[in-house]
Amino acid sequence: MNDFNPVLQLNIERDLPEASLKLLLQSEKWDSSLTAAADRKRREIYADEVYLRGLIEFSNFCKNNCFYCGIRAGNQNAVRYRLSKEEILDCCVEGYGLGFRTFVLQSGEDPFFTDSLLCEIVSEIRSRFPDCAITLSLGEKPRESYKAYFDAGANRYLLRHETANDAHYRKLHPESMSLTNRKRCLYDLKDIGYQVGSGFMVGSPYQTVDCIIEDLRFLQELKPDMIGIGPYITHKETPFASFQSGSLTLTLRLISVLRLMFPYALIPATTALGTIHPQGRELGLKAGANVVMPNLSPVRVRKLYELYENKICTGEEAAQCRSCLERRVAAAGYRVVTAIGNAKKEHML
Ligand code: 5AD
Ligand code: FES
Repeated sequence: MNDFNPVLQLNIERDLPEASLKLLLQSEKWDSSLTAAADRKRREIYADEVYLRGLIEFSNFCKNNCFYCGIRAGNQNAVRYRLSKEEILDCCVEGYGLGFRTFVLQSGEDPFFTDSLLCEIVSEIRSRFPDCAITLSLGEKPRESYKAYFDAGANRYLLRHETANDAHYRKLHPESMSLTNRKRCLYDLKDIGYQVGSGFMVGSPYQTVDCIIEDLRFLQELKPDMIGIGPYITHKETPFASFQSGSLTLTLRLISVLRLMFPYALIPATTALGTIHPQGRELGLKAGANVVMPNLSPVRVRKLYELYENKICTGEEAAQCRSCLERRVAAAGYRVVTAIGNAKKEHML
C-alpha cells in the first residue's frame, strides 16, 4: 500500500474515486508531485502561454445580499458607483492598446443596467473590437436576457456556482437565492452557446472537504471552459466578518487538481489569491493556472469594488498592472501573450 499514488492516477484517468480525492485534498504529502504533474499538463497543452483578461468592474450596485460579499445590498457603508457607457468604452480602448483581447464586464446585479442598455454596450464593443472576446459577469438573469446579450455579441459568461452543496448554498446566501436557479443559469448559458466559466471560493464559511468534492463533481457534469477559484477572504461589513479567510495551500492544491481533471480548462490565477499572499498569483500559475485578469477599471473606482478586504491593484493604472503582471508572469517561468485565448479545445472527460 506504500505505493498508493493518487497523483499518478489523477494524471492518467483525469479522475479519482471519492476516498482518494479526499486523501489528496487533505494531505500535504503529494503537494510537490501534484504541482509538478499539473505544470507538465498545462505546458503540454498551453505551453508557457498566459492569457490576459481585462476586467472592467462597471457597477458595484447589487440587489443581492450574499453573506460573504462586501458589495451586498445590505452593506450601507459601501460607496456605490456606476460607469457610463462611454467610460466602459474608454477602458476597452486603453486595454486594447495594452494588448488585451478579452474584456470582462463585471458588476453586481444592478437593475439600472437594463437588457437594452447592456445590449447597446455589448454591440458597440463588438463593432469597435471585432477581434476581441466579450465576457460578461453580471450574475443571474432570465434566459432571454442571456440570449439577448449573446446576440448582441457577447461570447463568454462567468458565473461561479459558489458551492454545489444545497445546504452549504443556503448558509452562504439569503432565502431569495437558490442553487437550482444558479445551475439553471449555467446550463442556459451553455445551451445558448456561451463559453462558460464557473467556480467556487476555497475556505468559505461552513465549507467541508465533502462540499469541495461536490464542487468538483458538479464541474465534471457542467464541463465549463473556464474555472475560477480563489480563497474566501473576509470582509468586515458582512455577516461573516468573524470567519477566517481561506488557505493558500488548499487553493493551490485545488488549482492543480483542476488542471489534471480538466486539462483544457482556462484557469485564472485570481486577484483573491494575490491578495492572501504577495506571490499568490505566481504560485497559482506554477500550480497550473494559465490566465490572469488585471483590472482595467478607472483607478478612482477601483477601491470601491470591494468584494473582500485588502484587494490588491487598487491604486495602479491599467498600464502599471499590465507591466507588473508581465514581470511577475515571466519571473514565474511563463509568458504573457496578446491573444484572444480561447480554450484549446472543448474538454471532455
Ligand atoms: N472573498 C473571496 N471571493 C469573493 N467573492 C465574493 N465575495 C468574496 C469574498 N469575500 C467571489 C465570488 C464571486 C466572485 C465575483 O467573487 O465567488 O462569484
Ligand atoms: Fe452582489 Fe454577492 S452581494 S454579487
